[in-house]
Amino acid sequence: MKVLLTLFIALQVYGATSFITKEEYAAGLYHNPRGIGCQMCHGELGEGRKIATYKEEGERKVFQGSPINHTAFADFYHRVNSKIIGMPRYYLTDTEIQTLYYYLHREEFRRAASKHIKSK
Ligand code: HEC
Repeated sequence: MKVLLTLFIALQVYGATSFITKEEYAAGLYHNPRGIGCQMCHGELGEGRKIATYKEEGERKVFQGSPINHTAFADFYHRVNSKIIGMPRYYLTDTEIQTLYYYLHREEFRRAASKHIKSK
């Protein structure tokens, strides 16, 4: 009986976590992409974020993650998996890149979908 109950609970938990929405999956990937979350350097909305300020030869410099929420998909696709100084390399799959792009543009997608023209 105890074994059955444990199994039942395990299945419930599994069921609850395996049926996540596209939004939840996309948010999860953005915050935990098998490494440091993108938001740490690019901000919650991909708006860009100052990471640190430092001095180099007496000059004040800013190390920052650039805005990534207005990048065209082709650029985003190529840049995200390339070697960028100051950014970890993630080796993301095509689907993961698409999901991250969707996450950063989800409002735009929603707006477009709501304006969908109904044909008669
Ligand atoms: C440790 C900090 C850091 C993290 C974490 C990080 N990045 Fe970056 N990223 C950078 C820096 C620094 C640049 C280069 C900024 C520049 O050249 O001005 C960059 C550049 C980029 C660019 C190119 C932007 C452009 O317009 O050229 C993209 C796209 C990008 N990051 C996406 C991501 C995504 C998606 C994630 C999460 C999977 C991520 N980054 C995580 C620091 C980070």
